[in-house]
Amino acid sequence: MSRPSTKSRHASYSNAANDASPSRDSWRADEARTKAMYEYSPYPDLGADLKTQDLYLRHLSEDFKKKDNVYVDVGCGTGHYIVGTAKRYPNWRCIGIDLSEQALNIARQLAEKHGVKNVEFHQGSYLDPLPFKDKADIISAMGTIHHCGDPEKAMQIMHDLLKDDGYMLWHMYGWRADQGKFDLKMALDILEPDLGSHEKRFFYYRTLMDHRNKKILKRIANTSLYDLYSMIKIGLRNWKRRHKKVSWSPPWNDDFKDLNSPWIDHFCHPCERAYEVPEIHSLVESGHFSVYKMIAQGKEFPQLIPHEWQARYAQLGFWEKARLSELLAVGGGSFAMILRKQKQD
Ligand SMILES: C[S@@+](CC[C@H](N)C(=O)[O-])C[C@H]1O[C@@H](n2cnc3c(N)ncnc32)[C@H](O)[C@@H]1O
Repeated sequence: MSRPSTKSRHASYSNAANDASPSRDSWRADEARTKAMYEYSPYPDLGADLKTQDLYLRHLSEDFKKKDNVYVDVGCGTGHYIVGTAKRYPNWRCIGIDLSEQALNIARQLAEKHGVKNVEFHQGSYLDPLPFKDKADIISAMGTIHHCGDPEKAMQIMHDLLKDDGYMLWHMYGWRADQGKFDLKMALDILEPDLGSHEKRFFYYRTLMDHRNKKILKRIANTSLYDLYSMIKIGLRNWKRRHKKVSWSPPWNDDFKDLNSPWIDHFCHPCERAYEVPEIHSLVESGHFSVYKMIAQGKEFPQLIPHEWQARYAQLGFWEKARLSELLAVGGGSFAMILRKQKQD
């Protein structure tokens, strides 16, 4: 099967067929591929611990969090966020929706395991009419909109789902965090374009890793102090996550010895996109949202700005500052943001 181009006007990386050649309802084909992927390989598994959303929720007022909120987790997957949140806020009504029945089966078991009652799950697509009437005080969209059939449509639907004074917690892939992964994935695409041929793709991956590992002395000689610092930092973070049993999946730059679900997720995903600031800006606009808090990629870092730039910098708009921060920072991360609806005049 030939794969679509990975260039798109929507995202710095995209292998969604609909992004390359949009046609009426072609996004359904992308959605079907995503569903098949998560029926086969739900993410993460039951053994992983619950996830908290403190990174986002600590920015909301205590009064808001005390309310009897309706919290909707779109693309809730195996439920580690929604069950964790429902447990923490027993007065909230928590609703999860996901394409994958296999993922929801794990989510239901997880709720039972933790004795959580204020949670309900629906199988289906959030791009279709929703199977519940309530509007949301909080929408959580963690790692899902970059996998859906049509992200712009998703943003418009989220806008309609959210109450006027509500918040949307949003996590999206940042291209600069994962460039190396996409380079590797595109190299595998050239050798074996069929993303479903896991064994063949893994063969090319594994032999490349072995080939690189043979040149270890040369690699050590070419490693800068900064590379070393990053490797230690990331290694320590992953060790801590594993140790604390935070829902953890090995990062793409692990040396995978076996063909397992995280490897398939990293290197054979049939519908994924990764973004830079201008593309995230356009998605935010397409849903008529504004940014309440930029938590990770694109966040302002005053220390990146030389003193002589300060006067000019002060004249820049929010998105120009976010892009500067992305361009000047070393490395990159994912986008973690809180959105609100734009005020209507
Ligand atoms: C990487 S998983 C993230 C799961 C969870 N949000 C988390 O962060 O742990 C992405 C999930 O989004 C779901 N998904 C993608 N498009 C969807 C759609 N249109 N409607 C419902 N679920 C969707 C997939 O089935 C998958 O379970």
